[in-house]
Amino acid sequence: MDDITLSKEWAGLREHHREIEGRTLRELFDEDPGRAERMSVTAGDLFLDYSKHRATGETLGLLVELAERAGLRDAVDRMFRGDHINVSEDRAVLHTALRLPAGAVLEVDGQDVAGDVHAVLDRMSAFAERVRSKEWRGATGEPIATVVNIGIGGSDLGPAMAYEALADYADAGIEARFVSNIDPADLEGKLRGLDPATTLFVVSSKTFTTIETLTNARVARKWLVDALGEDAVGKHFVAVSTNAEKVAEFGIDTANMFGFWDWVGGRYSFDGAIGLSLTVAIGPERFREMLDGFHTIDEHFRTAPFEKNMPVLMGLLGVWYTDFFGAQTRAVLPYAQRLHRFPAYLQQLTMESNGKSVKADGTPVDCDTGEIFWGEPGTNGQHAFYQLLHQGTRLVPADFIGFAEPFADPAGMHDILTANLLAQTSALAFGKTAEEIAAEGTPPELVPHKVMPGNRPSSTILAPKLTPRVLGELVALYEHLVFVEGTVWGINPFDQWGVELGKKLALGLQPALTSEEPPEDFADPSTENLVRRYRRLRGR
Ligand code: F6P
Repeated sequence: MDDITLSKEWAGLREHHREIEGRTLRELFDEDPGRAERMSVTAGDLFLDYSKHRATGETLGLLVELAERAGLRDAVDRMFRGDHINVSEDRAVLHTALRLPAGAVLEVDGQDVAGDVHAVLDRMSAFAERVRSKEWRGATGEPIATVVNIGIGGSDLGPAMAYEALADYADAGIEARFVSNIDPADLEGKLRGLDPATTLFVVSSKTFTTIETLTNARVARKWLVDALGEDAVGKHFVAVSTNAEKVAEFGIDTANMFGFWDWVGGRYSFDGAIGLSLTVAIGPERFREMLDGFHTIDEHFRTAPFEKNMPVLMGLLGVWYTDFFGAQTRAVLPYAQRLHRFPAYLQQLTMESNGKSVKADGTPVDCDTGEIFWGEPGTNGQHAFYQLLHQGTRLVPADFIGFAEPFADPAGMHDILTANLLAQTSALAFGKTAEEIAAEGTPPELVPHKVMPGNRPSSTILAPKLTPRVLGELVALYEHLVFVEGTVWGINPFDQWGVELGKKLALGLQPALTSEEPPEDFADPSTENLVRRYRRLRGR
């Protein structure tokens, strides 16, 4: 695989960076006030203002050339048509097929993928309707009041984030809870106050071999059986998986299993069957509206010229800051309390995808990869870590996400929230100089403390309202942004080999913690020492 950093496009950007590095956003806006108008793009319901970036039209032109050089156009086509672009696992990558409209045609490896997707979607819809309409009842004849999703990683973060985001649309009086951690406190806390007779468990696991999920599911099963007996399981447990054999082995009737396929990565899966708990909570119509939102951005990404392509621009700006400015992280700051799990969701989506040090062909990467995503909803973040964003020594590009309309706002608070979002982006970009601060009569010894350096870049994404459709659009935007970055870096964003070793070691260490006799020579000296201390603390 070519070394992208040796290309003339990369060299051009390096040269250009030397020039931009010395410029401030104040200067760029003074010289070109029209940039605010020009440096924006619309995709579906999303509006992106990227004028507060340390970039000019020339920067964007050079970045687009880099994307062309990296073969982005071809890579996009290959993904959408189902080529096996996940080379290390020899799989197609077709999360975009999960949101194809009914009647669409997509055949991959001789299989009618679009037809399969809609068959599962129809089954999910029918099941969700039965639960919501109280036709599906528990073993004692009572309707379901709570759905407990048991899953982890992509089988948890997506539906959990989306359920929180769309809580205002959960209109059937059915609550969803999400259990993921192997820490017993998670399941115990989530089961607290629940009545087994009105609880439905959705065991969600692509592989159905994940230790956390299977252990939590086993304990939950016992909780149910202790209360209602073995025969109740069929009415209170359903599964979402690609592995029918393991589902049956666990004791869930595969008639109550909702499937998906190896071409859906875990972190790209909540718009398929992994979204079952969400579908029950918000209803199939809203779920399909969310899929439409995803599809709108898929089409935008697939067809819009790179210069007007929102995921392409955001991905390329990620490369710009990571590889030319040396930025390590990107803050995601939703000004919407309902999106409080969005940064956590993005952490898996982006970091499990692009946290790699070898390229798709196994050779070492040529530059830094994998932005560290983090964040909290505004305004809470303002009273916690924004100090560092404004005056710290590190460059932290930020994505601000806001909405014009709240779901409900009887006391008129939403405009205050939005004013804060706008104020922060402005303060970050333009800051306040020592002269301006001194001119306000500030004592000289305080002036340096109050200087706001500015020149801190941000994107602002504005949407009309946090609806299912808009949520789908937002998620698809970040999914494709990850793909753009991964393509420029030459890596395969769709495998995750780095999570395997820890899982294997944990399996090996379990007996060392619990065995009667303390084992010898079972791990490295530091880990052995910790095991001995743990055993002592546990009285073993
Ligand atoms: O942690 C690795 C991982 O494989 C993720 O990619 C995945 O989302 C998660 O575990 C859960 O996997 P599964 O859905 O197979 O239980």
